[in-house]
Amino acid sequence: MKKNQSSSNVLIYFTPTAMKDANTGRFMFRKIEAAETNALTEKFGDYLTRFKCLHFGESALTVGAFLEGEPVGIISVYMRPLPAPLDDVRETVIDVLEVDKAHRRQGIARELINRVEQWAKDYRSLQIRTWCSGEKTDMIKTLYALGFCMCPVKIWVDSRKEEAGGFYAVKQLNSFTRTIL
Ligand SMILES: CC(C)(COP(=O)(O)OP(=O)(O)OC[C@H]1O[C@@H](n2cnc3c(N)ncnc32)[C@H](O)[C@@H]1OP(=O)(O)O)[C@@H](O)C(=O)NCCC(=O)NCCS
Repeated sequence: MKKNQSSSNVLIYFTPTAMKDANTGRFMFRKIEAAETNALTEKFGDYLTRFKCLHFGESALTVGAFLEGEPVGIISVYMRPLPAPLDDVRETVIDVLEVDKAHRRQGIARELINRVEQWAKDYRSLQIRTWCSGEKTDMIKTLYALGFCMCPVKIWVDSRKEEAGGFYAVKQLNSFTRTIL
């Protein structure tokens, strides 16, 4: 067991699992490093850096799906403590999930989510969650199909001065007893 220090100074004990490369069908899945950011923004758009959607380093993981060396899918997640009084519990947040239009419905998102869930479980993350706006129907259906609980909500978007509908999607990964240290 390795001892680790989270950003909130909570001591976390975890069993690190190497993020192994894997070939699933035609696609290769592997961890992506910060140095590869340009290739990702070229493929998926500069929103990735503009909105700081990519996360690297100790409490984060970015995984890509590749076809013949080209990125065709991406997921980026980070871990953070829940607010008090649960601030000794960590959760994992999906900041971006996108699959190239030409390669959808071939199980890429399923594999990307599986891989970050395994990583988050190993790090004793209680849950994995994300926010999805109402117009992203493919994403909503995907999260639902992959076992997330879907919580409909309306949020106030200050920049647009309007309400927007969407879903918080959350899936429990570890039980209470494994997560509270
Ligand atoms: C949502 C998205 C990531 C799904 O990727 P994908 O690789 O096509 O998904 P998968 O093939 O792994 O699908 C897994 C399951 O989700 C469900 N699903 C996925 N897309 C679906 C759709 N369009 N309609 C209905 N169900 C769908 C299915 O149950 C599917 O399993 P099946 O194909 O065996 O029936 C992809 O459509 C996408 O990138 N959309 C745009 C998202 C976006 O805007 N991201 C940027 C901001 S975060």
